[in-house]
Amino acid sequence: MTVPRAAVPHPLVAAAGRDGRLPEWARCGEARRAHIERVAGLLAAWAERLDLPEAERVRWAAAARLHDALRDASPAELRQEAAPDWPAALLHGPACAARLRAEGVEDEDLLRAVAYHTVGHPEFGRLGEYLYLADFLEPGRSYLPDVRERLRAILPTERLEALLSVAGLRLAHRLEVRGAIRPETVALWNRLVEEAA
Ligand SMILES: [Fe+2]
Ligand SMILES: [Fe+2]
Repeated sequence: MTVPRAAVPHPLVAAAGRDGRLPEWARCGEARRAHIERVAGLLAAWAERLDLPEAERVRWAAAARLHDALRDASPAELRQEAAPDWPAALLHGPACAARLRAEGVEDEDLLRAVAYHTVGHPEFGRLGEYLYLADFLEPGRSYLPDVRERLRAILPTERLEALLSVAGLRLAHRLEVRGAIRPETVALWNRLVEEAA
């Protein structure tokens, strides 16, 4: 009998999603691991409320654990993996996705979620959207605690409202610091606005 590919996660995805184990090439210190676990906790709670099937929960937990797996690698190391034109602080997402792809992970939706967890992407599936939300809203960050608490309280049900708020806050921050805005970020914003219209 042929088993559908989605039912058999890649060993790296299974290890991260089921056992909370990061690949041996992961570069993240204690503080980063604590952040990763808070993101995983939020996603697990939302997956439960959304009544997601077990295989989907494993993917969500894996994405949470893997999204910052290379966050503490040096920019030089990261640039060898992928996206040489990205600013140093954002490189860890695409670099980790490239590494996972090289290891044989073929789940494009998960790879996109990991690669674009900071900047967003218009083709995010549900996993990409909720990882983007969880990364920004996890309770350990000191930025705008009241606003973020209010947004956590409306999730996972008010997905679009939360996405518009988080994408808006992130965009506003980029404008405030006069930073460049990636085309994927603009395209995600436009998709959300269109959906809300
Ligand atoms: Fe990150
Ligand atoms: Fe993160």
